[in-house]
Amino acid sequence: MSQFTDLVKSRRTRYAIGNNTDLSKEEIVARIREVAREVPTASNSQTTRLVVVFGEENARLWDHILDVQKDVLQGEMWDMMSGVMQGAKGAVGTVLFFEDLDAVAKMPAEGAREEAYKQNNNANSQYAIWLALTELGLGASLQHMNIGHEQGFDKSVLEMFNLPENYEMIAQMPFGSIEGDAFPKEYIEDEVRVQVIG
Ligand SMILES: Cc1cc2nc3c(=O)[nH]c(=O)nc-3n(C[C@H](O)[C@H](O)[C@H](O)COP(=O)(O)O)c2cc1C
Repeated sequence: MSQFTDLVKSRRTRYAIGNNTDLSKEEIVARIREVAREVPTASNSQTTRLVVVFGEENARLWDHILDVQKDVLQGEMWDMMSGVMQGAKGAVGTVLFFEDLDAVAKMPAEGAREEAYKQNNNANSQYAIWLALTELGLGASLQHMNIGHEQGFDKSVLEMFNLPENYEMIAQMPFGSIEGDAFPKEYIEDEVRVQVIG
């Protein structure tokens, strides 16, 4: 098995994350920058922007998300996800994934294709960064705690961190030391997932 395959296999959704790491903020940021730089984007449009939030600012971010989500999530979903959010708050940090809408508008694509390219550009970064954090020995999960650009949740986060108005938030990736097992995962058959012709 290659190192790459081992890495891919060890990446999991980790909700039990903490702040017990010897890695410095600088080391984490350097690795994220190194990896994000090489992520492919449609026509090399490089529309994705990552904002890495650490420490007290990370706690402030998740307090705000908890505050918004208490009016959105209910019942069992709130019980589970509020625990995930509390875990994120006490972890090392969070990578916020944005798309720069001015850069998106400059892509040689319109309508549904532009939307697909924007989402795909961002997803490529999300997965690459998830793998990079895994390689650093950190655990992470992928969250969509925003209720959407259109609904205006982004605006409060943009204001909180003085980010440009033309940033659309796509996802959040809280990360930290691994403090527990990942949930068991079911798989569909490999032959259904990957089919071979010829
Ligand atoms: C497009 C996408 C959206 C996701 N959104 C969420 C989310 O909002 N909250 C969450 O806890 N996990 C989210 N996940 C994580 C998946 O639930 C998880 O990757 C999947 O169950 C497989 O588990 P694994 O990551 O441990 O392999 C998302 C994953 C993807 C690819």
